[in-house]
Amino acid sequence: MRSNYVPSPDDGAPIRRGSDGLSVPDHPIIPYIRGDGIGVDITPVMLRVVDAAVEEAFGGGRKIEWLKVLAGDEAIAIDHPELSPAEIEAIPPEERQALYLPDQTLEAIRDYLVAIKGPLTTPVGGGIRSLNVALRKLLDLYACVRPVRHLGTPAPVKRPEDFDVVFFRENTEDVYAGIEWKAGSAEAERVIGWLRDEMGITDRIRFPENCGIGIKPISEEGSKRLVRAAIEYAIKNGRKVVTLVHKGNIMKYTEGAFRDWGYEVGAEYPQVITEEELSERYNGELPEGKVLLNDRIADQFFQQMLLRPREYSVVATMNLNGDYLSDAAAAQVGGLGVAPGANINYETGYAVFEATHGTAPKHAGKDKANPGSLILSAVMMLRYIGWSEAADMIIDAMRKVIASKRVTYDLARQMEGATLLKASEFGEEIVRNL
Ligand code: NAI
Repeated sequence: MRSNYVPSPDDGAPIRRGSDGLSVPDHPIIPYIRGDGIGVDITPVMLRVVDAAVEEAFGGGRKIEWLKVLAGDEAIAIDHPELSPAEIEAIPPEERQALYLPDQTLEAIRDYLVAIKGPLTTPVGGGIRSLNVALRKLLDLYACVRPVRHLGTPAPVKRPEDFDVVFFRENTEDVYAGIEWKAGSAEAERVIGWLRDEMGITDRIRFPENCGIGIKPISEEGSKRLVRAAIEYAIKNGRKVVTLVHKGNIMKYTEGAFRDWGYEVGAEYPQVITEEELSERYNGELPEGKVLLNDRIADQFFQQMLLRPREYSVVATMNLNGDYLSDAAAAQVGGLGVAPGANINYETGYAVFEATHGTAPKHAGKDKANPGSLILSAVMMLRYIGWSEAADMIIDAMRKVIASKRVTYDLARQMEGATLLKASEFGEEIVRNL
């Protein structure tokens, strides 16, 4: 099925991945998905800010050649305007997913490696989990990277500026793998019967009748590639501590194994030392050029995020812990307006950058939603392709704009004396401050 593509830009060239990392031309082609709901409002603002920052930083020598690709409601609206919602719902799930996430979009991301997207609605009708999950799965984007730091937005804690942590959340395993059976189903009964009869588990399922069952796969390969990504990030970005967050005290062979495999990866790096080595060999003082690899039980880490945030810098954790922790951390520094993210496969180089919020349908098309998270996701993207000068400029400008209290509604209502701006006006304020 052909999608109504905007053809490739004439001028650009693809980003490539070589043995020593990404090779980025001066005019890289970067696909973008506008997104549903408020994607209509915030994606154009993000494009405008990024273009202006790149122009300002590189004086016209560099420019992103944006390639619009389709997904979500926009893919249906452009490719299949003839289909009614009822007709779409009647299409079998796999085919329906391909309408919402056309092959050409996936091919474009594969061809050009790096992409950015607005939020996507989970399509109507059963059988499709989420386009975001599908995208992560199809491209094996195993690391969900979420930097959380304070940019001056109102925050619920006393010293939000003390928080500066980059979360590496494993994206492909854990209880999120989607292996579960409904209570009372033949499948659940069968698994419970197998546990009882074949595996001798006779007393650990408290109420075996009418009991839902889920499976938690945590593998050596999946854990190690995630922890490796976190350690490499820390080394490259001069971050001093990598913390493995887990519930290994309870779930020994999944979460505990993640911790153990994490330390095995750490041992491969001469720069990495453990807490034991730190006290035995270095008297508790982290020497220059070293990275401390430690671990914390998840519940304890939740407390320490609030009480001793300065002790943490990079966190590597599994899917479920990472979901809760990174959202709670984002709330700690001011919430959805400052919550960027990326889903990355560091081996293939595929990277899809996106805000962590959804489509906020209530505010769609009103030019009022906060484009901050998507702009910060673009900042991550600029750093990923090595254009940090433009990234730094955007961050500085955003800080200034937030400090001047000229902000979108979500922030304005929490700030005394704020001037309420539309999404597009907020973008223009950032551009003016570059
Ligand atoms: P949501 O993030 O869209 O909205 C939650 C709340 O935050 C709402 O009150 C909304 O008004 C507010 N909000 C979100 N982003 C905002 C922004 N940029 N500026 C100002 N206020 C903002 O989450 P919800 O309502 O659970 O999901 C709506 C849809 O989005 C669903 O279809 C869901 O599947 C999808 N979704 C997509 C994601 C993605 O594409 N990565 C992530 C999360 C949800």
